[in-house]
Amino acid sequence: MEQYAIKGGKALEGEVTIAGAKNAALGILAAAVMTDDECIIENVPDVSDTRTLLKAIENIGATVKYIDKHTVSICGGSIVSDGNLCVDDEYIRKIRASYYLLGALLGKYKYSQVALPGGCDIGSRPIDQHIKGFEALGAKVSMVNGGKITAKADRLIGNHIYLDVVSVGATINIMMAAALGEGKTTIENAAKEPHIVDVANFLNTMGANIKGAGTDVIRVRGVSRLHGAEYSIIPDQIEAGTFMTMAVATRGNILIKNVIPKHLEAISSKLSEIGATVIEYDDSVRVMADGVLKPTQIKTLPYPGFPTDMQAQMAATLALSEGTSIITESIFENRFRYVAELIRMGADIRVEGNSAIIKGVPKFSGANVQASDLRAGAALVIAALAAEGISIIDDIKYIKRGYEDFDEKIRAVGGEIEIVDTEKDIQKFKLRVG
Ligand code: EPZ
Repeated sequence: MEQYAIKGGKALEGEVTIAGAKNAALGILAAAVMTDDECIIENVPDVSDTRTLLKAIENIGATVKYIDKHTVSICGGSIVSDGNLCVDDEYIRKIRASYYLLGALLGKYKYSQVALPGGCDIGSRPIDQHIKGFEALGAKVSMVNGGKITAKADRLIGNHIYLDVVSVGATINIMMAAALGEGKTTIENAAKEPHIVDVANFLNTMGANIKGAGTDVIRVRGVSRLHGAEYSIIPDQIEAGTFMTMAVATRGNILIKNVIPKHLEAISSKLSEIGATVIEYDDSVRVMADGVLKPTQIKTLPYPGFPTDMQAQMAATLALSEGTSIITESIFENRFRYVAELIRMGADIRVEGNSAIIKGVPKFSGANVQASDLRAGAALVIAALAAEGISIIDDIKYIKRGYEDFDEKIRAVGGEIEIVDTEKDIQKFKLRVG
């Protein structure tokens, strides 16, 4: 099983270029099947989640071609939808975003059946708001045997939908189904993340009529068909934030390129508040820190609040600041599983309900730790890079779901990290780094 071997204790310095946003790519790749024409999508991050979704899209009959590492051609014209279209294979059950095919295929064929999503274990991850939206548009949604969900409609008629919970997935899924519905749909209490705007912009490039994405009221005027498009995905705000906290936790100085600074505002302001320096340029940010950092309080919130996907990385950074910080996780119910692993490295953190009370310690010591989900894994890498000594991180498959060439990018800023597979590899790493 692949692991990361890391020797920490060095201030990371240099430059890193951010890949396309995973959570925008997953919605956009699914939306691309809503036309029979070819779509060319650029800046697709080369991560296992996008590769898995593309495999599932190919398996339902679409033509998928990699033009280069980050550019994909998708042509939905070859999908056979004889009313029995079912997306249920080993690929689709691996990722949470499989549910986007439910909305995309329902919009296009007025019928879809998808195996229920998998994903990271950070909470129950219900999809009741997705179903509420589909039913409001006139679809009948039912669970069939084997963990599959079916949605079908004679016609999809625009409606006024109020989301009980601010949900990224439900907002994107309903937007896709409504895009090919009849008449006007209003989605109230919509999520406002940058990736919602990116999916809406892509759909509009395909001929959809969507206004208000990025606000909490999205207005969709259904159209009869969508056409092919060329589109480039926005940079990944969470990958960028991960490298920002990596620079601060290791007391380094990193220039993070290919970002949209506005998308990073909540992260930049928190890092500045604890004493780091964040310098914003047009499409990059420089983040540096040295000496003692101050404590702070954070509550994760839907965008533009502090992102839940940055909660673990921030906790690892605050665990090496002075004083006591508090992080409250208001989005998911089980997103502190990394805490036990940080404690093995010397962190002083206590979880009470949905809050983590973090008492800063002067240093971490390397340890063998386990990644439990994508962002928890990223936090453990940050902690290991800041720790003195050697750490081995297990289950890096979670990290590879959302971070492209993570070890390569870390080595480029001076980090001692290698992918190891056997005890022998670990011994060789230890000999090399001393
Ligand atoms: C997306 O998940 C992201 N995943 C998550 O990123 C991210 O943490 C999350 O949005 C919040 O920003 C993808 O985009 C593939 P939600 P999603 O629906 O859409 C509840 C990562 O690390 N809810 O916004 O599943 C839900 O339980 C991943 O990249 C319902 O109650 O998140 C949660 O408490 C992890 N009913 C809250 O809403 C529903 O029908 C927010 O979930 C849907 C959601």
